[in-house]
Amino acid sequence: MSYYIGQMSGTSLDGIDSVLMQFTDNKMTLIAQHHLEFSQTLKSNILKLCNGCENELHLSYLLANELSELYASSVSALLLSQGIASEHVIAIGCHGQTVRHRPPEYTVQLINAALLAERCNIDVVCDFRARDLAAGGQGAPLVPAFHQALFRQTEEKQDTFVVNIGGMANVSQLTARGDVLGHDTGPGNVLMDAWCHLNIQKPYDENGQWAATGQVNTVFLEHLLKEDYFHLPPPKSTGRELFDLAWLQKQLANCSVPDISAQDIMSTLTQLTTDSIAMEIEKLNHCGQVIICGGGALNQTLMARLKKRLKGFQVLSSMDVGFDPQCIEAMAFAWLAKQCIERKSANVPRVTGAKGARVLGAIYPA
Ligand SMILES: Nc1ncnc2c1ncn2[C@@H]1O[C@H](COP(=O)(O)OP(=O)(O)OP(=O)(O)O)[C@@H](O)[C@H]1O
Ligand SMILES: [Mg+2]
Repeated sequence: MSYYIGQMSGTSLDGIDSVLMQFTDNKMTLIAQHHLEFSQTLKSNILKLCNGCENELHLSYLLANELSELYASSVSALLLSQGIASEHVIAIGCHGQTVRHRPPEYTVQLINAALLAERCNIDVVCDFRARDLAAGGQGAPLVPAFHQALFRQTEEKQDTFVVNIGGMANVSQLTARGDVLGHDTGPGNVLMDAWCHLNIQKPYDENGQWAATGQVNTVFLEHLLKEDYFHLPPPKSTGRELFDLAWLQKQLANCSVPDISAQDIMSTLTQLTTDSIAMEIEKLNHCGQVIICGGGALNQTLMARLKKRLKGFQVLSSMDVGFDPQCIEAMAFAWLAKQCIERKSANVPRVTGAKGARVLGAIYPA
């Protein structure tokens, strides 16, 4: 039996999701999963690089080493849990940690892939976004082709929208005709997480409970929705360069909402994620199935708001169709590694804006 491993550590900076996958001609199976939580110190160090700091080159290489030791220990834990030896794994697809995303110039995912290959003795595929960027694309989102491979049923009568709500949120549109479209819709959890951490010292609003105690402030919401990004046509992708705590604080300073409480801001941010996702889906169709994945699928307030807002659509968690929401991005990187090893393209030019289909990734042999 041969396997692939996929690893994702996203813009939420919550930790590393790793999955062990098996692929046959028509089927992909999730065998096991592992989550490794980032320490608060590691999270602050990554944030420092995201925001820009002194001595960046030195710090980024040290951080790439530290992250890669963690990627390796997550791989070990995954294999140990299943009693599988490394020689049975064809490759690890590891996204790395994004600290800068500035298309069309560059995008940076920290990883020391040589170290990861050395520790695990498995081929490592990384740097998935660079080739798409070189071909004129945004380098993101890369998951739509995978979403199609995973979710698309044959003879579908309606569009399926797959929405990943991580730090940022992105939508893939799997049309009834068989086409794939998609783009980043804007902030997923990033603003909610930052506001939560600032006010109640928690990494995120568990199950959306805090947001549920506040009211949406419509004046502030309308102000937030004026952000240019929400009105740009695709292809488009975004990151912490735009949507972060500084962006939120600037909006608060520029909008006159004197009596707004911290929980009302939380409720409004939850609505911002809801509305910015819904607006993009509504630009694409007026009905269909919407499958929500990523950590945001566990936020019950957010899920309830999406269901209420997207009337005419059937809104489900990926759990309802058999896939743990927290695993899907990592599964995508196992699939992307397989595409690279088999020299098959994986970007969707209409999604990223690249000149054409490209094989994505760099291989570091075991
Ligand atoms: N029980 C929960 N209730 C509310 N929110 C949750 C819960 N569990 C996770 N989350 C949210 O999900 C986030 C993590 O999601 P995820 O790992 O999908 O994002 P990510 O690491 O940014 O990945 P990517 O960039 O690939 O989308 C957390 O930061 C938090 O905001
Ligand atoms: Mg994550």
